[in-house]
Amino acid sequence: MEQTLILIKPDAIEKRLTGIILSRFEALGLEIAGAKAVSATEELLRKHYANLAGTPFVDEVVRFMMGDYNHLPDHRIYAFVLRGENAVSRVRAALGATNPDKAEPWTLRGQFGCVKNGVMQNAVHASGTPEEAAREIALWFKPEEVLA
Ligand code: TYD
Repeated sequence: MEQTLILIKPDAIEKRLTGIILSRFEALGLEIAGAKAVSATEELLRKHYANLAGTPFVDEVVRFMMGDYNHLPDHRIYAFVLRGENAVSRVRAALGATNPDKAEPWTLRGQFGCVKNGVMQNAVHASGTPEEAAREIALWFKPEEVLA
């Protein structure tokens, strides 16, 4: 069984989309193996987005993930480990393209994302490959927080 990391981003939390997003993964038959609310630090987010280091938009993306984009008094991310057959590719397909303006209309990002001030507010993160999933799950969860 494959595992993948999902992050419900601050834009989706603010729009109260958490339940709708989770229901889509549940409908795919995926099992929740870990769940938590995280007030993510800049250090954690820079490690998570290490692949973006050096890009002109990384600072904006980190700020967005810390909820700074709309001056929310309280910032949070909901992190989940989902498990199931081909979980990584099936969840990515449910998300759609990175850019919400280009994502297919039946995908989560196509339906709930937007681009504001050059930052893609795309509602959900999901690991891109099984290797990425292993790295990201280890970053966001302690081993004992994920069901065996
Ligand atoms: P990336 O890891 O390339 O995409 P994905 O989230 O689909 O795996 O980028 C991480 C996040 O950075 C992406 O979800 C939104 C943001 N981003 C931008 O704001 N502008 C950009 O041009 C890119 C490529 C990403």
